[in-house]
Amino acid sequence: MPRLKWGMIGGGEGSQIGPAHRLGSGLDGLFEFTAGALDHRPDAGREYGRRIGLPPDRAYGDWHEMLEGESKRADKVDLVTVATPNATHFEITKGFLQAGFNVLCEKPMTMTVEEGEEIVRLAQETGNICAVNYGYSGYSLVRHMRAMVARGDLGKIRLVKAEFAHGHHADAADADNPRVRWRYDPKQAGVSAQFADCGIHALHMASFVTGQEVESLSADCVSCISSRELEDDAMVNFRMSDGAVGRLWTSSIAIGRQHGLTLQVFGEKGGLRWTQEQPNQLYFMPLNERLQVIERGEANLSPEADRATRVTIGHAEGMPLAFANIYTDLAEAIRARKERRSVDPAANLYPKAEDGLRSMAAVFAVAKSGKEEGVWVDARPPMFR
Ligand SMILES: NC(=O)c1ccc[n+]([C@@H]2O[C@H](COP(=O)([O-])OP(=O)(O)OC[C@H]3O[C@@H](n4cnc5c(N)ncnc54)[C@H](O)[C@@H]3O)[C@@H](O)[C@H]2O)c1
Repeated sequence: MPRLKWGMIGGGEGSQIGPAHRLGSGLDGLFEFTAGALDHRPDAGREYGRRIGLPPDRAYGDWHEMLEGESKRADKVDLVTVATPNATHFEITKGFLQAGFNVLCEKPMTMTVEEGEEIVRLAQETGNICAVNYGYSGYSLVRHMRAMVARGDLGKIRLVKAEFAHGHHADAADADNPRVRWRYDPKQAGVSAQFADCGIHALHMASFVTGQEVESLSADCVSCISSRELEDDAMVNFRMSDGAVGRLWTSSIAIGRQHGLTLQVFGEKGGLRWTQEQPNQLYFMPLNERLQVIERGEANLSPEADRATRVTIGHAEGMPLAFANIYTDLAEAIRARKERRSVDPAANLYPKAEDGLRSMAAVFAVAKSGKEEGVWVDARPPMFR
């Protein structure tokens, strides 16, 4: 089967997330890196693109040039990943969707709820695929958690506890470093800093695993480093669509915590705990029984988990492989569309534009509640109320 053609905007030399996308998209031989506008500096982007293997005529200087160039080609890219800074996601994603391309956009998908609704409508109207990179939902055992919850292993879900707390912006002496400062400046970052950057991953994972949407929330947002205008720590209480109670802690001043993404789910019949820094183990405590450690790659896991695993049990599978699972899902969705058939349900797990929109609604709800002493607010986007 010929490989699908893949292009990327952003992710230039030295970027944080570009390499993980290139690894993830290439891992299963489903996508071929074919086009890119990789850097905000056109010459640097062209030069880097050629150096890492793009054909010279498809190493573009900016995304407008790439949109124009690819639109004219019969062998245009099948998928475009948008991995630029947040404020540019909306216009680039909108531009490519309108021109008939499928898009995988980095989170946050947009800067406002209205923009998010526009993207969802555009994806629905055009029929083009619009995914959002909540890449941690690609981990095999996260998919197994979701399968266990869906088949009732935990009974009705009572409580979800999500965390994404790290300590990498904890040094007050470094608060003026330009690479850190912009994140807490509302003019550049929008209405929220730490929740919009990290908390939304944890919130998405809570919904992904439980199959329930966030309906309302109350937030306590603080700037522990007082010179910051936006929050560097937040505690968010939330309520979900099938009655689950949610608790979420996100922080960037938690010294000693590295990545800090963890999810715990408690039902009537048992509890689950998974943490991103030890992705190969899932802890399952059935009610009145012994603690069980479920290992990635062991026999008799769910089909969703099996589909999302590559190396044998006991060998680490990390973040680029989780991203690779988002790409394998997308390859299946793109092929199904080309072949006019329905998508394999086990592959239909990639986060969609609707998830990106729900996150933006949650970001604005957290910002509002945080300003109003934790008042409970509706966290659903207007178009889903
Ligand atoms: N899903 C995840 O787990 C995850 C993790 C980290 C970052 N992100 C997201 O990825 C995005 C990029 O983050 P990063 O940390 O890699 O940023 P970065 O600053 O390290 O890199 C950004 C890259 O985009 C390029 N760029 C900027 N504007 C551009 C434009 N208009 N056209 C083309 N290229 C442009 C820059 O030259 C640079 O190469 C952000 O939206 C961030 O939220 C997601």
